[in-house]
Amino acid sequence: MTVRLDYTLALDTGSACGVTQAHLAAEESAFQLGLRQVRAAADAGNLGFWKLSQDEGAAEAARRLAASVPDDVHDILILGIGGSSLGGRAVYEALGGPPELRVGRRLHFPDNSDPWRLARLLDTLDPNHTAAVAISKSGGTVETAASLLVVRGWLREAGAPMNRHLMVVTDPERGSLRALVEAEGLRALPIPANVGGRFSVLTAVGLLPAALAGLDVHGLLRGADAMRQRCEQEQLTDNPAGLLAALHVLHHRLYGRHVHVLMPYADGLRAFAAWFVQLWAESLGKRHAKDGRPLETGPTPLAAVGATDQHAQVQLFMEGPRDKLVTFVSVDAPEHELTIPGEEGPNAYLGGHTLGELLTAERRGTAMALATDRRPSLTLHLPKLDAPSLGGLFFLWEAATAIAGELYGIDAFDQPGVELGKRLAFGLLGREGYERERREVESFAAARQPLVC
Ligand code: PA5
Repeated sequence: MTVRLDYTLALDTGSACGVTQAHLAAEESAFQLGLRQVRAAADAGNLGFWKLSQDEGAAEAARRLAASVPDDVHDILILGIGGSSLGGRAVYEALGGPPELRVGRRLHFPDNSDPWRLARLLDTLDPNHTAAVAISKSGGTVETAASLLVVRGWLREAGAPMNRHLMVVTDPERGSLRALVEAEGLRALPIPANVGGRFSVLTAVGLLPAALAGLDVHGLLRGADAMRQRCEQEQLTDNPAGLLAALHVLHHRLYGRHVHVLMPYADGLRAFAAWFVQLWAESLGKRHAKDGRPLETGPTPLAAVGATDQHAQVQLFMEGPRDKLVTFVSVDAPEHELTIPGEEGPNAYLGGHTLGELLTAERRGTAMALATDRRPSLTLHLPKLDAPSLGGLFFLWEAATAIAGELYGIDAFDQPGVELGKRLAFGLLGREGYERERREVESFAAARQPLVC
């Protein structure tokens, strides 16, 4: 029982899409070299994400910290953004059920600086029955710092002691959050220094929210570890991460299919699709090759959900530009089922089928409709939506991202493109040391006649 990748419809045999077995075979040596480089970096201790699934101690530490949270804490605010929020949310939604229906402790992920959510949340929650977890690898991310200040003020006003109501997940040694932990004696868990934000879901970043929600943290790691072993296979056709990476890169390079769609037919994987979008975009969209050559390359990831998006984006996938490779995700044995009662009339054919069967039929119909028009797709099959499958899915995409980075010839682990915008915003906010940026923004604005309709 494991996650399986069906790539029949991503090759010429399945959908006449142009990418052939021969193309795949020709990619074998680049894949093997890429995999070797990724594994060598992991063995040298530079790519920590590859070995996280073996760190049962991290799962146990998350479980212990969660167990120390008093029972009368009913709501938890997870304060983080990007890789410090999306993974935890993906776990919570996939395994914890629909958030609005959750019984027991509820987690909230107000990741944005827009007060639309946080202001209302704080109005409705009782600070004496609420805790917060501030998550930031660097400890200096402005959005997280700002929401933490707001939440600390809110807790302080209610007389809620920080060492009871605030936990931290951050770098083990560096950064201002670490300093806060030391200064105030807060409960904290580390993010290993060699694990980057968007690859950190299997650290305390994802494990602590999972444990706080009472979810199976050990199962996540177990599934990830089984997948790690498969993703270390040296034959491309035995390696699901290698195949995912190579097929995406080949479709992009040879046929311009640069829009990479992840379309789970599972409501519980909506947040997972958002996690994938960040992982794929921030890792693979790069100006320069590793050797410094200008490239300006990268796929555009897109999230969709079946069957909902059959009434929205599938029209574009079927008849729009031939620039997409769609990866469907199927949960083969859903935990909950509903049988459709029979009734006379035009819908009589539905009677006796389950909603799960309807979803499967729609996924298969969409994949085949695309294939008959020579539009390729992949399908990932999850046996169930449980912790081991989800852990496996996380590792699979992380490994595929690392290998795709090698095939694109870029560094998948940095994000220099987000720096300039941040610095200019600091200038606008009057942060010390950013006076030059402030002047730059002002002269940029002054040099342009606003055109507003
Ligand atoms: O993948 C990344 O590195 C980023 O998306 C980070 O996760 C994000 O910027 C948040 O960073 P931090 O955890 O340092 O607050």
